[in-house]
Amino acid sequence: MSAPDTALPQPAYAVRRLALSAFRSYPALTLEADARPVVLVGENGAGKTNILEALSLLSPGRGLRGTALVDSARRLPGEAEAQAPWAVAATVEGPDGRFEIGTGLQPQPDGRLSERRAAHINGVAAPASTALSETCRVVWLTPAMDRLFLESPGGRRRFLDRLTLSFEPGHGRQASAYERAMRERMRLLKDGGAADWVDAIEAQMAAAGLALANARARTAERLKADLAPLTGAFPQAAIAITGTFEETRSPGDDGEARFRDMLARRRRVDAEAGRSLYGPHTADLAVTHLGRGRPAAECSTGEQKALLIGLVLAAARAQARADAGAAPLLLLDEIAAHLDARRRAALFDEICAIGAQAWMTGTDGALFAELGQRAQGFNVTNGALNPI
Ligand SMILES: Nc1ncnc2c1ncn2[C@@H]1O[C@H](COP(=O)(O)OP(=O)(O)OP(=O)(O)O)[C@@H](O)[C@H]1O
Ligand SMILES: [Mg+2]
Repeated sequence: MSAPDTALPQPAYAVRRLALSAFRSYPALTLEADARPVVLVGENGAGKTNILEALSLLSPGRGLRGTALVDSARRLPGEAEAQAPWAVAATVEGPDGRFEIGTGLQPQPDGRLSERRAAHINGVAAPASTALSETCRVVWLTPAMDRLFLESPGGRRRFLDRLTLSFEPGHGRQASAYERAMRERMRLLKDGGAADWVDAIEAQMAAAGLALANARARTAERLKADLAPLTGAFPQAAIAITGTFEETRSPGDDGEARFRDMLARRRRVDAEAGRSLYGPHTADLAVTHLGRGRPAAECSTGEQKALLIGLVLAAARAQARADAGAAPLLLLDEIAAHLDARRRAALFDEICAIGAQAWMTGTDGALFAELGQRAQGFNVTNGALNPI
């Protein structure tokens, strides 16, 4: 695949050193890498995805498995509860130089594990929710996402929100402000709260909701711009954000005033339904396979995978463009197994053209042979990583 004319310069985000402590299957692990893509090869259960999960926790949130944070703490067989908090430390190279990032479960005074996360950037404590996305960018694709187009809109919304968060670190704050205001409005509607209280909460909900919807729309525009160069091995896709709020917008309208007005008019309907029926929390990401002229959900399993890879590569490209050419870390779990030889070669070429340090896992090292010296490889066995 040929790179588009706008070459993306280095340096990309690259993990040069990774240290894990009490993380899933790893009591302790240290790994050094150069800036090239990384291939992790090992048998089922060897601990490959655990490494990717640890890397995903260099960004805010619950990581690529999406499980509770305490679940990542190492538990011995038969143990109901983990004994020690997990910690991940990394030396990350990026466009602004090198950073030491540390994150882990925040210890509680009583010694129990909490669901809260602590983060340190260059040794200084910082809020995990914002500081991490300002320091390191991470985009991932896992086998669990293979059903993204078939399942409920919630998964696609989370996918879109995660991408948005990596472009705009403030997105998470707007999303929580919106959710909070929506819950509070529902409580007031149920309890018969005073009208001016409801007015005030609806104003908050409209402001945060509009910011949320606008940030998602900007992400979709960025993706559209970077989906175009992906020709050949990956299908051309059209994307759109659908939903009650998005579909009733017209260019140039004052979205916030209209949203407030809509909320005021829908009080009874929403109170009866027990939930807000209108707003950006109902949004969905609609993806169409242009070559087939069909929505993604109607495409074959392989076509859906190719569409998804195309979206993730477009996101990586768009992020590099938005960040002085620095591609995000790409975490691609079991990526090679799903692709035929032509698509695999195209994927590797695209990763190298973007300049991303992509972390790829597989049980069969031969599937990565095409990368040759363009990547570094490690065998994962018995909780240790050995250079191939
Ligand atoms: N909290 C935990 N504490 C200890 N071990 C764990 C914990 N969570 C998961 N494991 C173990 O980690 C091991 C490695 O899991 P991982 O998913 O990384 O394997 P993998 O190499 O990706 O395998 P596959 O090729 O099947 O995807 C598994 O045997 C799993 O039981
Ligand atoms: Mg795995």
